[in-house]
Amino acid sequence: MKDVVGNTSTNKSQGHYTDLDGWTRGDLDHFVVPQNWDEYTDEEHQIWKDLYQRQIKILDGRAVSLFMDNLHSLGIEEDKIPNFDDVNKILMERTGWKVVAVPGPIPVEPFFELLANRLFPVGRFIRTREQFNYIQEPDVFHDLFGHVPILADPVFADYIEAYGKGGMKAADHKAAYLIGRLYWHTVEFGLIQEPEGLRIYGAGILSSPTESVFALESDSPHRVGFDVKRLLRSRFYIDDFQDTYYVIDDFEQLFKATDPDFLPYYDEVRKMPSILPGELIDGDKVIHEGTCEYAKEAAARRQKRKEES
Ligand SMILES: [Fe+2]
Repeated sequence: MKDVVGNTSTNKSQGHYTDLDGWTRGDLDHFVVPQNWDEYTDEEHQIWKDLYQRQIKILDGRAVSLFMDNLHSLGIEEDKIPNFDDVNKILMERTGWKVVAVPGPIPVEPFFELLANRLFPVGRFIRTREQFNYIQEPDVFHDLFGHVPILADPVFADYIEAYGKGGMKAADHKAAYLIGRLYWHTVEFGLIQEPEGLRIYGAGILSSPTESVFALESDSPHRVGFDVKRLLRSRFYIDDFQDTYYVIDDFEQLFKATDPDFLPYYDEVRKMPSILPGELIDGDKVIHEGTCEYAKEAAARRQKRKEES
């Protein structure tokens, strides 16, 4: 089990940053690269198109209601990998956010600082055909298709900026791993209660065909009401479906949760045991108590892998 924050895993062999690489606070351009849109190949545009066409069908009736409208009004369409300059013209007008290209995952501190300045790092690259069904590193499909339509919502846009500012403060108090859990369980894997039913707003789910169905329709995972201190304690698996999904009432609830000073929360949470994936605790607002069937099979697979390695 490993905790990470969104775009933060490190793997030098794939050209990603393993350390701060000389970055200092205030240097917003350090990890930013040109998108060089003209350099995408026909095959890369075709992979985007195939991913897009598959996912758009699955998300009909499953994504948060603003997703489809925002996707199209931002000009994120199926035919080509979008040019970030074109998306930014619309996104900046709507919420003051801008996407910037990065070569791959970047370390947490510069990641927080970009968010605090309304700059969203988007992987420039797209997965290969061999990685079509799963890629751990966030590519342009995950980042742009999954995250950016939600960033065009004004309240969510404010939440992510507040999160970035909170992240910078957390990093100063060695609590980045704690606030990282909030990002994971909301921005990446969050569900929202809408009048028509549960819907997806987390980009990790929105960009995954199988998890889009699993998160909403499988009996296996728990679905539990959002509680910020509970999330700060909640561990997760990075490379499998989540055992528990957290459900918000609306984006206002998320934004308001970032109002208080988190430093007393960190002190409190550090004195308590972490909550394991799939564990329910007293005080949970349980919306659906899962059968944990998938979680048990996944645990057996992990155990087998461990024994074989
Ligand atoms: Fe992400």
